[in-house]
Amino acid sequence: MSTPHIDAEVGDFAKVVLMPGDPRRAAYIAENYLEDSRLVTDVRNAVGYTGRYQGSEISVMPSGMGMPSAAIYITELYRSFEVETIIRIGTAGGFSPSLQLRDMVVASGCITNSRMPELLLGQEQYELAPTPSLLSAAVDLSRDSDLSLQSGTIFTSDIFYEPDDGLNQRMIDDGVLCVEMETAALYAIAQIEQKQALSLVTISDHLTSGAHLSPEERQTTLDSMISFSLKLASDEAKVID
Ligand code: HPA
Repeated sequence: MSTPHIDAEVGDFAKVVLMPGDPRRAAYIAENYLEDSRLVTDVRNAVGYTGRYQGSEISVMPSGMGMPSAAIYITELYRSFEVETIIRIGTAGGFSPSLQLRDMVVASGCITNSRMPELLLGQEQYELAPTPSLLSAAVDLSRDSDLSLQSGTIFTSDIFYEPDDGLNQRMIDDGVLCVEMETAALYAIAQIEQKQALSLVTISDHLTSGAHLSPEERQTTLDSMISFSLKLASDEAKVID
């Protein structure tokens, strides 16, 4: 049962999927964290894997960059491969002065400059939110670990090279924590398909101070988020089973 962008059979994907942006990150997670991992699709080098983590079957599938790309994979996974839960793991640029580099943010809400949610949902007024039980599971899990996790509203942008100089300050004034490019699509599509979703990001750069992680720091930080999200995914898989 292949789709235009995923060449796999129903059953090749686990019910719970971790979704980084970068395909190489998906391969890294499969090779370094999953047991018995196998490649299940590689159309356009979007490499998806399924394996086991702490006894639960988990898949990893990259979103690519930005909502148009992410929406394709998210829709096909939910609609055609019986995926129930997608947990995005990515990086974001921090607005809020209260955020430090390496902090992890869970998107308890999401605003966007994209029309995609409005067009998909067919309404001008909408709310984008994660699955409440996944959000509280993430917050509970962070209390048992030494990771700093903030929960709050994030901004999903269609624009990486932002021309609006006033945007950072407006976001800070509105209490928006950080910017990335995929979460609004995930939350809108999960709502439409009646599936589960959560978005976790680590702060890789700070938009007001200009601070950013070195490549090595990025890797270690991502390792912490990968372990955290795999534990969350494995707990979620046990709930679904
Ligand atoms: N903008 C959008 N997405 C991002 C950024 C950013 O500054 N940093 C990491 N992901």
